[in-house]
Amino acid sequence: MDAAALLALVDVLPEQRDAVLERALGIDAPVASAPPGAELIGYHASGLAPVCRMVRDVPIRASDVFVDLGAGRGKVIALVRALSGARVRGIELQRELISTAVRGVELEHADVRTASLDEGTVFFLYTPFTGPVVREVGERLRRVAERHAIVVCTLGFTLDAEWLRARETDAFWLTVYDSVVPGVAPREQVRVDFDERLERLAYERR
Ligand SMILES: C[S@@+](CC[C@H](N)C(=O)[O-])C[C@H]1O[C@@H](n2cnc3c(N)ncnc32)[C@H](O)[C@@H]1O
Repeated sequence: MDAAALLALVDVLPEQRDAVLERALGIDAPVASAPPGAELIGYHASGLAPVCRMVRDVPIRASDVFVDLGAGRGKVIALVRALSGARVRGIELQRELISTAVRGVELEHADVRTASLDEGTVFFLYTPFTGPVVREVGERLRRVAERHAIVVCTLGFTLDAEWLRARETDAFWLTVYDSVVPGVAPREQVRVDFDERLERLAYERR
């Protein structure tokens, strides 16, 4: 699905957009959502609105490497790639989700606790795990941030770490953090002019 088709979803009622989108992406058939292990969370897809809000607020640009940690069926990386032009990676533990993923999206079958994260510049987590696994993966992200500035976006939960600075926001579920590590240059601030329909997709509610 390209950006034009995605942005055309503004013409669909807000409460119907995700169903229309998931049908178009070929991920509307139900799939098992059981947790894949202790402290790990099962599959639930992010909504279109918070993903649009993230693309706009970060802002994600073509030079970014966006990584979805626990990528499910690849909905988020498909949207981010189309809307921003960024290079995307989706890391997912469950083979069944990978084999029923969005057509044309490649997911890596790996555990976020051991997969290479080095090249990522923007990381996304929609409640993929809890407690000790959040701390373990947070520590891995901090090591990436010791080499270059990163942005970490969480949906549905918050992170508490001295090297992460949460941005002020009125978003209900989405939190955007900048890494702040002594001796590492902050992320370059670049203005990105997005299509005004992205704004509407990010904010319009039923
Ligand atoms: C709530 S879903 C989010 C899916 C997707 N990010 C989205 O927003 O649409 C969380 C996903 O994380 C995956 N997951 C949980 N623990 C994982 C781990 N250690 N490594 C890779 N994937 C994991 C689950 O299998 C599930 O698909």
